[in-house]
Amino acid sequence: MNNLKKSTQIILKELATRYPDSTQFRKNAIVEVGKEFGYTGKDWDPLMQKDNRVKIGTYDLAGLIEPLRETMVSNSVVKMPQSAAQMQSIVNEEKTFAKTDNSFVPWGAFSDIVKIVKSNMFYPTYISGLSGNGKTFMVEQACAKVGKEFIRVQINPETDEDDLLGGFRLIDGETVFSKGPVLKAMENGAILLLDEIDRATNKIMCLQGILEGKPVLVKKTGEIVEPAEGFNVIATANTKGKGSEDGRFTAASIIDDAFLERFTISVDQQFPSLNIEKKIVFKHMEKFNCMDIDFAEKLVLWADIIRKTFYDDGVDEVISTRRLCHIVQTFSIFEKRDKAIDLCISRFDSDTKEAFLDLYSKVDADEIVEETGDINAEETYEV
Ligand SMILES: Nc1ncnc2c1ncn2[C@@H]1O[C@H](COP(=O)(O)OP(=O)(O)OP(=O)(O)O)[C@@H](O)[C@H]1O
Ligand SMILES: [Mg+2]
Repeated sequence: MNNLKKSTQIILKELATRYPDSTQFRKNAIVEVGKEFGYTGKDWDPLMQKDNRVKIGTYDLAGLIEPLRETMVSNSVVKMPQSAAQMQSIVNEEKTFAKTDNSFVPWGAFSDIVKIVKSNMFYPTYISGLSGNGKTFMVEQACAKVGKEFIRVQINPETDEDDLLGGFRLIDGETVFSKGPVLKAMENGAILLLDEIDRATNKIMCLQGILEGKPVLVKKTGEIVEPAEGFNVIATANTKGKGSEDGRFTAASIIDDAFLERFTISVDQQFPSLNIEKKIVFKHMEKFNCMDIDFAEKLVLWADIIRKTFYDDGVDEVISTRRLCHIVQTFSIFEKRDKAIDLCISRFDSDTKEAFLDLYSKVDADEIVEETGDINAEETYEV
């Protein structure tokens, strides 16, 4: 087909359109079409070669015309894009409620977060704090307590408008606009948890207006989504949005000041006190069926000493509440304190690991207490 002259191709195309069910053509029909375009014999003769002739005056053009018809059909089914206004929007109707977790120990800002959630007000709240000290769990459990719909979005450097507000998806052969979690939370009047917001880039700037409690114009469909009563945004982060000075959170980004300005309050969450953390460890020991009061006390004391040492720049890492819970779980499997600790701190570099093990051996070595008599553990383990 491509070897044919343009004029011959035009004749062929016209024959294909005019006689949609035919592949064999009378000479008169071919010539007639050619003449209509003002062509001459040299334009239509290539279609009337000996090889194509099936009987006198009739030519079979199947080999040329069939591929041409296929391209014509596929071109005709390429639909023009639907206009945005006609675009069907869908949303996953399923409501998501957090479940109450029996291992949760309420402390710190928990009661404030519960009050904020209960108030049903739009009151964007930013919670920062070191990794694994219970920020996400606290927000989830506050929503569970109040019985409020809770939608969690994990933010990472790739998160963009499409992930947050939604985008076009092919569903049952139809292109539809599928609403993202932010629009769903707005329409349902739910709590939207933007988890680890300091991992974001400016690709999440589409949230700016939403953080003011304003309706959002979905550019892709032209639809305006209004926040329903009860909609609120809570964000968690390891940093206060100014980057990580000590380089601990290398992925933490600097959040635009104007963006941070839109949060009504900020809560800086520390690690729980010794007593609270002991309760948390007990709860996990209960959960994993490995209650050992003595071990629990030693673990939280050890974590506390490490944190104090960390704040004094004595070690580069901390043992988080999450890590203590991991140690408890590991202990429930191996039933050995030292093995559980060793396995759970192996992720740290060897110097840090050694320092942690050394501190633990001091906390949990009966012989040290025996050797030195009545010793206050905290004094003993000053570093
Ligand atoms: N108040 C608590 N009661 C019981 N367990 C807790 C509590 N706080 C934290 N934990 C334990 O610590 C784990 C980590 O908590 P969470 O995921 O909320 O930390 P985070 O502060 O959000 O950490 P990151 O900054 O790394 O996201 C929980 O899964 C739970 O096992
Ligand atoms: Mg978290």
